[in-house]
Amino acid sequence: MSGKETPGTGTVDTATKKVFVKTYGCQMNVYDSQRMTDALAADGYCATDVIEDADLVLLNTCHIREKAAEKVYSELGRIRQLKEERAKDGRETLIGVSGCVAQAEGREILRRAPAVDLVIGPQTYHRLPAVVKRARGGEKIVETEYAIEDKFAHLPHPEGRIVRSRGVTAFLTVQEGCDKFCTFCVVPYTRGAEVSRPVSQIVAEAERLAASGVREVTLLGQNVNAWHGEGVDGREWGLGELLFRLAEIPGIDRLRYTTSHPRDMDDALIAAHRDLDKLMPYLHLPVQAGSDRILKAMNRRHTAEEYLRLIERIRAARPDIAMSGDFIVGFPGETEEDFAETMRLVRAVGYAQAFSFKYSPRPGTPGADMADHVPEAVKGERLQRLQALLTEQQRDFARSLVGTEIDLLLEKPGREAGQLVGRSPWLQPVIVDDAAGRIGDIVKVRIARAGPNSLFADPVGEIGAPERAEATKGVYV
Ligand code: 5AD
Ligand code: SF4
Repeated sequence: MSGKETPGTGTVDTATKKVFVKTYGCQMNVYDSQRMTDALAADGYCATDVIEDADLVLLNTCHIREKAAEKVYSELGRIRQLKEERAKDGRETLIGVSGCVAQAEGREILRRAPAVDLVIGPQTYHRLPAVVKRARGGEKIVETEYAIEDKFAHLPHPEGRIVRSRGVTAFLTVQEGCDKFCTFCVVPYTRGAEVSRPVSQIVAEAERLAASGVREVTLLGQNVNAWHGEGVDGREWGLGELLFRLAEIPGIDRLRYTTSHPRDMDDALIAAHRDLDKLMPYLHLPVQAGSDRILKAMNRRHTAEEYLRLIERIRAARPDIAMSGDFIVGFPGETEEDFAETMRLVRAVGYAQAFSFKYSPRPGTPGADMADHVPEAVKGERLQRLQALLTEQQRDFARSLVGTEIDLLLEKPGREAGQLVGRSPWLQPVIVDDAAGRIGDIVKVRIARAGPNSLFADPVGEIGAPERAEATKGVYV
């Protein structure tokens, strides 16, 4: 888009500028990276996958576990060399750090990595184009103050432009930040207080996504089920009501949301799982641990029994729902008996998918200052046992689907020629022959085989029937 006057910016670029964005961490970062790329596109930057070609390299970082900051510094060392190489050819390279490491480290990044030109925290992404412009003028910039203005309102897709289509599935942030203060977690510090996006903005963005060909939308938030806002009927809405509204948008055939906290699963949301076919039967509901003592120390504010009862209610509403969770082993004070409770809880729930981690102390969080840290070797050994059980459950779930018919949203070409990959309602990758349909179709397939990470399926019914695409659309619209 360079060489042209870009509406709204008033600048004329004579050469195409390229931005390379490397994303670490959660889906919120993936979403933010896309929005930042969109915002920069309006200033003449097009995205590139080739870092050597980039005039702007942006690392969108994650701070949730481990020595993430250290990894970022060593990556910055490599990028500095690249900057020096390019400088020999007279090409300028700006280096930016965004995301949670940017928020947590701030000016320290410029001190330790002087080649960096700009540091920008998640609260101020809407200022990115202005910040880049200043950085191009030679200024070093750190933008990590919490913005007073509404970040969401200021980072829309440019008015009047259809959002660039990135396929048939998309993320949509509806909520950001967290007030829960689990004692192991940095999110309340790096992402700030909980903020919900207004209904009108969310609906408008979902409509734009639908218009660009997106059929499946995943609502994002660090605590997505704490989302609330004033509904179109003037009443206070929760995520359940919002999902009902989004399900009315023609073209949006599948809805998902992540990540949820057990304390915020209200009746309306459970009812949405019961009544909305478009809401996929998959729920990521982290519990972290199975021992009440550890749950208390983690400040999760619920017991293991309450979590199990909640899942019973959700399953009563939507019997085919698949559960997913997050677990931390080796939180300070965790005994062998506490860990056994986690294993018991996992057996009681039966997870279709799960993510498990060794506890990693995050500076500034209460957990880091607690007594009785668990030795690394013990954490490692517990993690192995937990992961063995979770992997077995995941495999059993996948195998239980063999022989069944499912609706598959075809998303992209497979790794091998002649294949397409889609997602099952339970978020598993499913591989089919490309005769099954076109990307964007929702087709009926029969699961033939379960591999370790994906399912293999055969099309059901007449392949290539001309009415197929219309017929599948008609099911939902
Ligand atoms: N150590 C280990 N795992 C953590 N998580 C968050 N903070 C930590 C930490 N300090 C995990 C939790 C959370 C997921 C996103 O990351 O399980 O749900
Ligand atoms: Fe972190 Fe807990 Fe908030 Fe989740 S609910 S983001 S784990 S503080």
